[in-house]
Amino acid sequence: MSRTRAILVTVLLGLAAGTLTAALLFALPGLDPNQAGRGQITTGRALVGGPFELTDQSGRRVTEKDFAGRPMLVYFGFTHCPDVCPAGLQIIAAALDKLGDRAKEVVTPIFVTVDPERDTEALLGKYVASFHPNIIGLTGSVEDIKRMTKTYRVYAKKTKPDEHGSYSVDHSSFMYLMDSKGLFIKHFRHNIDPEKLAEELRAAGA
Ligand code: NI
Repeated sequence: MSRTRAILVTVLLGLAAGTLTAALLFALPGLDPNQAGRGQITTGRALVGGPFELTDQSGRRVTEKDFAGRPMLVYFGFTHCPDVCPAGLQIIAAALDKLGDRAKEVVTPIFVTVDPERDTEALLGKYVASFHPNIIGLTGSVEDIKRMTKTYRVYAKKTKPDEHGSYSVDHSSFMYLMDSKGLFIKHFRHNIDPEKLAEELRAAGA
């Protein structure tokens, strides 16, 4: 392939990927049932997020209203995840450390399990605490989690159990930054630079 042709192909692939991402994240305004009922204008906003009801690591039932008034960083995963989830949580923890004493005022970091059958409140609580004391772990019934992942457009699917009955959960692993009203601001990859993430969190919480 000639150099010019290679550049053209790269550009076209980039455009296709961009269009696909936009198509996945954005939809026409006014179609989101979560936002429509609250009378909020959704024009130009990605329709990610919305109301939820889950159980935190202390066994308390919580909704998005419990976290209103402060941006949320919402990340999905499961405690048995071998590498991606721990890597993302380490980055979140590092970013929170960079925010220092202000971290709690700036953002509420939330880890939602995509494996509610194994991730009990106690297990999840121990897991998130091993990364950072600020991180809130949320679990619930299979139905609760299904609703939450749907609202956040998260892909999560259990793999077929092996002969010992053990399974994994394939899942998308973006971090979702929501504003103090629970509306989507932007998403990050699980391997974002902690310094960059800290900056983004600072900007959202300012
Ligand atoms: Ni994972």
